[in-house]
Amino acid sequence: MTKTTIAFLTDTHLGQRLVMNSEVAGGKMRYDSEAEQHEDRLRLVLDDISRRGIADIVFGGDIGTAQSVPGFFEILKGYDFNTSVILGNHDTYDDIKRYWFAGDGDVNGKLCYSYADRHLKRIFLDTSDNMLGDSQHAWLQRELDGAHNAVIFVHHPILAVHTPVDRSGAALRDRDKVRSLLSGVDCDVTIISGHYHMVDETRDANIRQFVSPAVSYQIVKQSDELHADVEAFGYRIIEIKDARIYTQAVLLNQAFPGR
Ligand SMILES: [Fe+2]
Repeated sequence: MTKTTIAFLTDTHLGQRLVMNSEVAGGKMRYDSEAEQHEDRLRLVLDDISRRGIADIVFGGDIGTAQSVPGFFEILKGYDFNTSVILGNHDTYDDIKRYWFAGDGDVNGKLCYSYADRHLKRIFLDTSDNMLGDSQHAWLQRELDGAHNAVIFVHHPILAVHTPVDRSGAALRDRDKVRSLLSGVDCDVTIISGHYHMVDETRDANIRQFVSPAVSYQIVKQSDELHADVEAFGYRIIEIKDARIYTQAVLLNQAFPGR
């Protein structure tokens, strides 16, 4: 049996201080620029992952301001992780590829790539412009052809989540089309996403979806309007045993880091 443990951390929003009680504009929360914002939480999360002896990490997107990108990779350099990166709607491929490069992918201008062993295909998608888009959609279809088990790392959730943020304009624009693709293949699909800053688990036929807590701050899942919880932060641990995937969220608190 092959066993791998991965930590999925996402939505660091470095240098971005949340403006509370403001409207969501264009699917984005409003932020003020503030240097070093959330860097302490990134370090606490990386320390926690390291303490557990986990060697592989996947970063789920939304590093923060463009100015914070070099500092993000500088902080990562202080640890010894094997790192994979996907892009969020606050990231651009050009900013990131100066520091982290997956090789020239099969889809022009998109940071999408995959690895496979004999049990499981791991697929990494680019939804930085809030959609998958036609050429990446066609690529994903080819990638899933003949696969029986796949884990997909993608910044935006694909299945709907029962929470106000899902109806605020933040959802992936072509998610219905992506969901049809996934439900039409003969493959068990596990989606690991971020973007909504909350823990959620949903299932639809052959698709399981796990939304992950943010490193920066959480959005309260059950509320009438968008409401943030700035105390809690965290990440997700994923255990892969052959084709089986087990996952749990880890929530930390600034007052009691590491508990
Ligand atoms: Fe996002």
